Formats: sequence, structure tokens, C-alpha cells
Amino acid sequence: MIPLLFALCTVVSAAVKWDAPAPYDPVWLASVQTYPPVTAANETRFFFGWVYETDVEFKLYTRRNPFEFQMLRINDSASLHDSNFDFNNKVKVLAHGWLNNGSGPMPMSLKEAYLNVSDLNIVVVDWGAAANVNYIMASYNVASVGRLLTQFLNFLIWEGVSMSDVHLIGHSLGAHVVGIAGANLKRTAIDTITGLDPALPLFTVGNKDARLDKHDASHVEVIHTCGGYLGFMAPLGHIDFYPNGGTRQPGCGYDIRGLCAHNRAHMYLAESITSSVPFTAVRCQSFNELYYTGNCTGTGETLIMGGFDIHYGKDGIYYLETNDQKPYALG
Ligand SMILES: *[C@@H]1O[C@H](CO)[C@@H](O)[C@H](O)[C@H]1NC(C)=O
Ligand SMILES: *[C@@H]1O[C@H](CO)[C@@H](O)[C@H](O)[C@H]1NC(C)=O
Ligand SMILES: *[C@@H]1O[C@H](CO)[C@@H](O)[C@H](O)[C@H]1NC(C)=O
Ligand SMILES: *[C@@H]1O[C@H](CO)[C@@H](O)[C@H](O)[C@H]1NC(C)=O
Ligand SMILES: *[C@@H]1O[C@H](CO)[C@@H](O)[C@H](O)[C@H]1NC(C)=O
Repeated sequence: MIPLLFALCTVVSAAVKWDAPAPYDPVWLASVQTYPPVTAANETRFFFGWVYETDVEFKLYTRRNPFEFQMLRINDSASLHDSNFDFNNKVKVLAHGWLNNGSGPMPMSLKEAYLNVSDLNIVVVDWGAAANVNYIMASYNVASVGRLLTQFLNFLIWEGVSMSDVHLIGHSLGAHVVGIAGANLKRTAIDTITGLDPALPLFTVGNKDARLDKHDASHVEVIHTCGGYLGFMAPLGHIDFYPNGGTRQPGCGYDIRGLCAHNRAHMYLAESITSSVPFTAVRCQSFNELYYTGNCTGTGETLIMGGFDIHYGKDGIYYLETNDQKPYALG
């Protein structure tokens, strides 16, 4: 028995070339998983969930106000028409994750990068009040935040904004917030959703109504950077990118909590928007190839991860490598 186990471990460690010297902390994950998984909004018994309308704020940034936000309020036409919101421009909606808020690095770096490249309406969903609690409570709050974002998007539709001009981007638990909002818009489809390392603990592959899923928008892209621990390893979109294999990230060192790798997803995207050096990814033959080898020999097809323009079509699983520090793109 012992030699067999030993042999298995050797095979696995030989095949999986991860960068980090130590595995992620299984104790924290196990403690979270003693709680029941998050269920879909329409079937949730909110054990700990509590989100007040005032806990979720919609903050507008444009080139006319790149640093000072203007507050948009659901069903308040004046807040929209008196703001710098430009109905001729496209809309990017940015939702942060656990332990973050609307002034954190995830919305701010993406806002800065997008406004550098183009005149857009950037709406930051600030749900900091409901995200700065323990992970279990924050994840039970996701469905309610998603419901309020749905109301906000319905308000934009009512005001004449086309959802084909809207791109939702969410990091960590925020990826599920935007996924749920996309799914709740019954008669109209969001153009694109980008999920940045969608949160895994307490979410399941089986219950797609509780999480980001490829049916939540016309086009769903996902960047996996801490897959199997803080983020989903399983593909959730039309296009799934796995930088450095999707589980560990170079330069993160002894990343026991996984937060370094988890945050790389939005750092890679932010860099890709303004960078002239692309994040070129190769298409894998299958998810299994990526999963079992942590690499892909590729089918010969390539696709650029992130960037300002959205790459429709070419659905599949993609692998790429990055630098271990800024700038991350290798070309
Ligand atoms: C919840 O909504 C989903 C999709 O909208 C539906 O398939 C499911 O049956 C609903 N569940 C309940 C308990 O109503
Ligand atoms: C906004 O209006 C819609 C439609 O009348 C309503 O369902 C929703 O509850 C309202 N939301 C807020 C926050 O006022
Ligand atoms: C938001 O997060 C930043 C760190 O990213 C922190 O400095 C700030 O105090 C937080 N703001 C609020 C209102 O919690
Ligand atoms: C945006 O543009 C300004 C001015 O050209 C530059 O200083 C800044 O570094 C740019 N930011 C990003 C994220 O590229
Ligand atoms: C992944 O595969 C490519 C192509 O075979 C190779 O160049 C690269 O070094 C491999 N990366 C790792 C981390 O093994």
C-alpha cells in the first residue's frame, strides 16, 4: 500500500509543474465547506444573507469625471440624466469580490485602463458593505447583490440603454454577482460577461443558477488563476483562459491563502487593456489535457487573452504563460 501511494504521488508531482512551493491551506477551505453551498436566488433560504438596498452603490466614472464618481440610483432618472453618462458610449460594469470595495484595486485599475483607451461609461458596483464580512456571509449575500444589479440594469434598459452595449466584469464573488444579474434579465441578453477567477468555495458546478454560467450572456469569458482553491477550475464560459495552468501563478511564492494568485486575474486583464504586448494563449485539445498536465501542447490555434476588443467565437480552453512580475504579458 505504501509503495503504491508513493508511486502515485511521484507520478502526479512529475506531471503537474506548479510554481508555488507549497499547497494552498486546506484547513480554511474545509472550515468554509462545513456550511451548505449557496443556492439559486429563487431557492435560497438566507441563513446569513442580509443586503440592504443602501449596501449596494452604483458609481459612474467617465472621461469627464475619471476620479470623482457620480452616484447613479436605481429608478432615479434624474441621477442618470444629470450625470456624465453618455448614451452614445458603451457601458462597462465592474463588480469587485470578497474583502474588497468600490475603491479597491479590481475596479480602479480596470477603470483607469479602459478610460485610457476609450470614452466609456464605467459603472462600479460597490457592494463593500456586504463583501467585507467572513467568506460564508459574503457568499450568501451574492444573490441579493445580483438581484439589485438586475434592477439597476432593468432601469438602464427602461432609460434606453441597449444591453448589447453592456459588458459586465466581476472578480471572485463579483463574477457570480454579474452572472446572476445576466441570468435574471429575462428578455434581453447582456453582450459579454468576463469572470475573473470566479469564486469556488460554497459554489458548485452542479448548481449553475447560483453562479456564473455560459448562459448568463451572449458571450462569457473566464480567466482562471487560483483554480481548485479560491476560484473555479472547471470551465464556466464559452472561452476559458488558464494562465500558467490556472491554479498557481509565478511570483506568488508561498501563497498559502491563495489571494496573490486569485488577484492576478484582474491584474492580467487590466494590463492587457493598455498593453501593446499581447497575452497570446494556445488552444488546448481538451480541458482534460490542461487539467492533467497543467499545460497544453495546443491545437495550433491561438487567441489573445483580454485586451480592449472582445474576441467572439473561437470557444474553447486556452493556456498561456506569463511573467512573474509586471509587465506580465510575454507576447
Ligand atoms: C429557479 O429558477 C430556475 C431558472 O430561472 C428554474 O429552472 C428553477 O426551476 C427555479 N427553482 C425554483 C425552486 O423555483
Ligand atoms: C425599480 O422599479 C422596478 C419596476 O417598477 C421595481 O420592480 C423595483 O423594485 C424598483 N427598484 C427600486 C430599488 O426602486
Ligand atoms: C475600501 O478598501 C480600501 C482598500 O482597498 C480601504 O483602504 C478603504 O478603507 C475601504 N473603504 C471602505 C469605505 O471600506
Ligand atoms: C493612462 O495614460 C496616462 C497618460 O498618458 C499615463 O500616465 C498612465 O500611465 C496610463 N495608465 C495606464 C493604466 O496605462
Ligand atoms: C508547456 O508546454 C510548452 C509547449 O510544449 C512548453 O514550451 C512550456 O515550457 C511548457 N510549460 C511548462 C510550465 O511546463
